[in-house]
Amino acid sequence: MSDQQSPVRDYVTGALAPVTDEVTLGELSVTGDLPAELDGRYVRNGTNPIDPDPATQHWFTGAGMVHGIRLRDGRAEWYRNRFVRTDEVTRALGEPSTPGTRRDDAPTAAVNTNVVQLGGRTWAVVEAGQWPVRLSDELETEAIDPFGGTLRGSFSAHPHTDPRTGLTHAVTYHWTETCVRHVVLDADARVVREEPVELDGSVMVHDTAITESRILVFDLPVTFRLEDAMAGSVFPYAWDAERPARVGVLGLDAPGTTVQWAEVEPGYVFHPANAHDTDDGGVTVDVCRWESVFDHDRLGPNEGTPRLERWHVDPAAGRVRTEVLDERAQEFPRIDERRTGTPVRWAVTAGLASAGAAHAPLYHHDLRAGTSTIVDFGPTSAAQEFVVVPRDGSTAEDDAWLLGFVTHRAEATTDLVVLAADDPAGGPVATVHLGRRVPDGFHGNWMPTNS
Ligand SMILES: [Fe+2]
Repeated sequence: MSDQQSPVRDYVTGALAPVTDEVTLGELSVTGDLPAELDGRYVRNGTNPIDPDPATQHWFTGAGMVHGIRLRDGRAEWYRNRFVRTDEVTRALGEPSTPGTRRDDAPTAAVNTNVVQLGGRTWAVVEAGQWPVRLSDELETEAIDPFGGTLRGSFSAHPHTDPRTGLTHAVTYHWTETCVRHVVLDADARVVREEPVELDGSVMVHDTAITESRILVFDLPVTFRLEDAMAGSVFPYAWDAERPARVGVLGLDAPGTTVQWAEVEPGYVFHPANAHDTDDGGVTVDVCRWESVFDHDRLGPNEGTPRLERWHVDPAAGRVRTEVLDERAQEFPRIDERRTGTPVRWAVTAGLASAGAAHAPLYHHDLRAGTSTIVDFGPTSAAQEFVVVPRDGSTAEDDAWLLGFVTHRAEATTDLVVLAADDPAGGPVATVHLGRRVPDGFHGNWMPTNS
């Protein structure tokens, strides 16, 4: 299909419609019993474009807005939503600009994709150039902050902390470069390495996965289009049917020149669930894979539906063998991150018939048995990304809570739902009623008070 064809949907109405106000709500209504041990914040980032044009608004480029709920002593103390105050936001709101240094080549980009706790602080993060934005515990923007000046290049929306070392790893990119960078942060959220890995083009690399010894580079065929950038596109990346697809395997401590490449059938992966080393020197990684993205619809991933696959990466042979684990449409995979990089039994994904679907259940996968449990919140209710929160003092992988937003389309309201990971089909342990709608968004995390 032609790149000039009109998109078949927009990304600013219905479930994706932005909210126009920032609110602070106290003492939220709860159904069920909120576990008293949940002491912290659930915070999620997403796009909330200001005065968008539906014909041109890319799903990934709207202003960032974080939504957070503070839990303590079995109560939901507050809900807050706040814009992530990059320059486009402060200009639109008529506010003073946010402190901090800017990159010359990404001065106004939104920071809208994830929000993470690193080094005891809260950071809104995005890929492709704009630096992280540091937030207060109450989600107010404090500064544009490239990790205390230690970050030189881009960052990523998907840093992964190695539970064995406490180091955090990401793969980053920027349109001016034909390399990606393996960026490593220490436990204080200071960059200690930025290791370039040369590619032969400028590629969009959304996420990575680590094992106990290696990190993956997803060199998949979505590439930078200079002509689109010069024509004013804010998201000048598109599907490149001519470009082969491959996965790079790089030692966590290794120079970028030692990356080993393995060819894979073309497709796009925004999100791996997890990866681990195998006894034969390979890497197994579970991914949500799209057939293609940004081909006929340049404003959002809207071509086919993503399915859960297992990729057996053989770096010695230079090949990837793919195995379909679940054909159903799903995205936003999460695991118990105490086990990042090692074999896991459980993963949770959100059903995704299409962006902003009216109905989307949660899938709780038993990857060992090859089965899954469907958690359905109702015919017009949609689960978003759920995160895995270990219970206090637990070690077992399913001795955890699952937390995430469920939006009830008909009522235009959103709940924060808590499930027991060892009995998700038993339904919510607790439901926190926000009493208003949170637009469908991207990624969030549980941020315990004492970490
Ligand atoms: Fe993502």
